[in-house]
Amino acid sequence: MQISTVNQQFAMDVAAGLSASPKSLPAKYFYDKRGDYLFQQIMELEEYYPTRCEYEIFDTYKHRFLELFQHSDRPFQLLEFGAGDGYKTKVLLDAFTAQKANFQYIPIDISNNVLQILAADFKKRYPDLNIAPFNGDYFKALEQLSENTAYRKVVVFMGSNIGNFTRIEAVQFLRQIYQRLAKDDLLLIGIDLKKYPQRILDAYNDKKGITRDFNYNLLLRINKELGGNFKLENFLHSPTYNPQTGDAKSYLVATKDHEVYIEALEQTFHFEAWEAVYTEISKKYSISGVENLAKKSGFEVVNHFFDQKKYFVDSIWRKA
Ligand SMILES: C[S@@+](CC[C@H](N)C(=O)[O-])C[C@H]1O[C@@H](n2cnc3c(N)ncnc32)[C@H](O)[C@@H]1O
Repeated sequence: MQISTVNQQFAMDVAAGLSASPKSLPAKYFYDKRGDYLFQQIMELEEYYPTRCEYEIFDTYKHRFLELFQHSDRPFQLLEFGAGDGYKTKVLLDAFTAQKANFQYIPIDISNNVLQILAADFKKRYPDLNIAPFNGDYFKALEQLSENTAYRKVVVFMGSNIGNFTRIEAVQFLRQIYQRLAKDDLLLIGIDLKKYPQRILDAYNDKKGITRDFNYNLLLRINKELGGNFKLENFLHSPTYNPQTGDAKSYLVATKDHEVYIEALEQTFHFEAWEAVYTEISKKYSISGVENLAKKSGFEVVNHFFDQKKYFVDSIWRKA
C-alpha cells in the first residue's frame, strides 16, 4: 500500500501505540475532516459545558482582555495554538476589530481542513484583519514564537487544550513557550476545573453518542488511510474520571478476543477481550493546580477570569 509522507508519521505513531503495553493511540489524530466536524457537534452538546463556559468568560471580559494585551503603543500578535474553527475566538476578535486594535492574528492547527474553514470565515467576517494561518503540530509552531518581531506576543491556548497533556507534559510544553517569549509577553490559557465528577463524566459520554463516534473516528481513520480492518462493533467507548488526579481519560475497550490487520504496516495486532486502548486525557485542575502550573513553567499569574459557575478558568500569565 502506497502511503503519503504525511501519513508515514501517522503510520509510525499507530505502530508504536498498538505495539506498546498498554496500548494507546495519539489523540492528535482525531482531527481529520470528519473529526473536525464531530468536534464541532460536541461543542454544541448539552453535556459539553466547557465551550459555553469559556464563551461566557470571553463575552464578559473581552474589553478587559484587550486592555491587558494593549498595555503599550506596540501592536500585538495573537498566536492561537489549536485554534479549531475559531468559534469562541470570534467573540474576542469582534470586540478587538470594533475597537480598531492594532494586532496580527496567527491561528495554528494540525488540521489543515479546519484551518482553511477558519481562514475563509475570518477573511469574510474581518476584511481588514491581518491574519497568517500556520498549519502544523504545536511543537513545529513553537518556532514561530522565536521570531523576533515588532509585536508584543500574546499566546492563546484555549478550550482546555492543555488538558490533553499530562501534568508533566504540560509543564514541559509551557516552559518551551515561556523560553521563546520576551519579557512582558502574555499567555491566555483556558483550563477546565475540577467539579462534580458526574458532570465531567457526562461531558465525555453524551447521550447522542457523538463523543463515542469521535473516538471511533481514530479507528476509521486507520482503516481509511492505512488500510486497517478495525470493526467498530468490537470496541466500546469507555471514559473514566479520577477526582483526585483530575484525569478524565478515554479508552476504546475490545469486547472480544480478535485480531486487526493494518496493510500499510504489514502487521497484525492482537486484542484480548476487555483490553483497553488509551486515546485521550482531558485533565482537570484545581485553582491551586493552575497556579502551580504557571509557577513551574516560569510565568507570573496576572489574573484569573471565571464563568459564573466556576466550572472553567481563563487565566492570563505574563513572562516577568
Ligand atoms: C479540542 S479542539 C479545541 C479547538 C478550540 N481551541 C476551542 O477551544 O474550541 C483542539 C484543536 O487543536 C488541534 N490540535 C490537537 N492537537 C494538536 C497538535 N498536537 N498540534 C496542533 N494542533 C492540534 C485540533 O486539530 C483541534 O482543532
